[in-house]
Amino acid sequence: MKTVLITGCSSGYGLETARHFHSHGWNVVATMRTPREDVLPQSERLRVVPLDVTRPASIAAAIEASGPIDVLVNNAGVGAIGAFESTPIAMARELFETNTFGVMAMTQAVLPQFRERRAGVVVNVTSSVTLARMPLVAVYTASKAAIEGFTASLALELEEFDVGAKLVEPGYCPTTAFTSNGQSRMEGLIPEGYASFAQRVLGDFEQPAAVTRVSDVAEAVWRAANDATGQLRFPAGPDAVALAQSR
Ligand SMILES: NC(=O)c1ccc[n+]([C@@H]2O[C@H](COP(=O)([O-])OP(=O)(O)OC[C@H]3O[C@@H](n4cnc5c(N)ncnc54)[C@H](OP(=O)(O)O)[C@@H]3O)[C@@H](O)[C@H]2O)c1
Repeated sequence: MKTVLITGCSSGYGLETARHFHSHGWNVVATMRTPREDVLPQSERLRVVPLDVTRPASIAAAIEASGPIDVLVNNAGVGAIGAFESTPIAMARELFETNTFGVMAMTQAVLPQFRERRAGVVVNVTSSVTLARMPLVAVYTASKAAIEGFTASLALELEEFDVGAKLVEPGYCPTTAFTSNGQSRMEGLIPEGYASFAQRVLGDFEQPAAVTRVSDVAEAVWRAANDATGQLRFPAGPDAVALAQSR
């Protein structure tokens, strides 16, 4: 029976992905910054383990507690919407700590066991903002675009050891990364000069033409984890698939 470790399972795409792998009979190590059994009850095949991807000691403890794993899903991420001009560089660093360096640190933590067993897959969740440009998310896009390049190169280097590296590129879904979580990070990031522009752009978010469902992402992660064709990118959700096709 295979085991998947997923980061950021307290809500949104990570939570649904944990449920999806569990329903397909896998062992699931569902990690959360603050473990909450009310969202994901523990069972024989599902363990909730504490993990903050920005803390090396937390990463080491989670990997130790998990035992051998077959698939790592780097899903944990934070969003931020705002004009770059007024985004503090400290906030950009904070975003990169989770979305970029957290992914790299988690990947480094599992690679020795994957390489030794000559098996394993790393699935990195980025975003459709890497497929088509969007305003007011420059720092977020940068943090995810870095992981696109990272994963593309890593996939080639790991082929030598029969280890996979994949990208899942979800479209927009009003989960907490871009609602409560993102909004708290937006305060003061839309200065007066950008107000009417931001209103137009963000208005499109309120009634998007197509949205991604959490199940679209869980399904795409599942396909990426089980892929035997060498496909690197898995756009997830109708909006992301359309963007990928029009690129
Ligand atoms: N929603 C969208 O429209 C969208 C679109 C494209 C891509 N994405 C990406 O999809 C992924 C999942 O996002 P989501 O939409 O499902 O948002 P979400 O519901 O806010 O989930 C994000 C998860 O990441 C966790 N997290 C944040 N910082 C962490 C850290 N330092 N260590 C460990 N876990 C951490 C959060 O935990 P806490 O509960 O502790 O905060 C939460 O469990 C993210 O990488 C996001 O960038 C989202």
